[in-house]
Amino acid sequence: MATVIAVAGKGGTGKTLVSALLIQYLIDGGRGPVLAIDADPSTNLDLTLGTSVDETVGDIREETSQQVSSGAFAPGISKPDYLELRVNQALMENDGYDLLAMGRPEGPGCYCAANNMLRQSIDRLSKSYKYVVIDNEAGLEHLSRRTTENVDLLLIVSDPTIRGLATAERVSQLIHELKTQVGHIRLIVNRVPRGQDGEPVLLPHLEQFIEDKQLRLAGVIPMDPLVAQYDSEGRPLVQLPQDSPARRAVEGAFDSLDGLV
Ligand SMILES: Nc1ncnc2c1ncn2[C@@H]1O[C@H](COP(=O)(O)OP(=O)(O)O)[C@@H](O)[C@H]1O
Ligand SMILES: [Mg+2]
Repeated sequence: MATVIAVAGKGGTGKTLVSALLIQYLIDGGRGPVLAIDADPSTNLDLTLGTSVDETVGDIREETSQQVSSGAFAPGISKPDYLELRVNQALMENDGYDLLAMGRPEGPGCYCAANNMLRQSIDRLSKSYKYVVIDNEAGLEHLSRRTTENVDLLLIVSDPTIRGLATAERVSQLIHELKTQVGHIRLIVNRVPRGQDGEPVLLPHLEQFIEDKQLRLAGVIPMDPLVAQYDSEGRPLVQLPQDSPARRAVEGAFDSLDGLV
């Protein structure tokens, strides 16, 4: 059974950075194979990982609903088998990990039967991996619609502001209202300014807020100019140097969980 890690938080907080570096860390540590799920239609986990995706689950859903509404849907095999086959075709296979992009969420008037079947095939697919890492979009649409079965670890990424942390707190509250069961929730604060020794330093009022709200902090990631530079040049973040502060911080945050997942 795969361990499912979902990365959530407001847009631009660093979810894709955390997801990409975590996926690489799991693979390098021999903890693969990993299924990477890009559940954010507005960003590209594939580029961050140094690969590219041609087809998304959303494309399959739209293609299927068009065929159904025009009466042209006659796959010759059962619908669930057909959709499973198509999901496998959309899966981008790489060294140590496979990547599946969810694409656009379904609009109104969706062919929901297809959606349910797609979800079930993703659930089945997940079982053949050791880890599933889901890079979520800003809302929790995919989690609330159960893109996958239960989540073992939810990492909420926040910027180092009270407003950001308050959103992170709301997200962790909201989780309890979802159908998805979440094993553990941890906070990661990103883009934290560095002190004189180069290590990221959380300001006392942020530390206090985290303590007051009983948010469980897994780690802090410093502001790292190389991250911005790589992104601006379109270079995969997984190619960041081994000793890059952002990479070390993501690895440290995961290590701090110490066998939790
Ligand atoms: N620690 C960091 N240091 C510098 N820039 C960062 C850092 N984390 C993220 N960024 C930049 O912030 C932007 C948003 O990051 P991203 O991971 O795409 O966020 P999200 O997936 O949450 O939208 C990107 O341009 C990225 O380069
Ligand atoms: Mg993103």
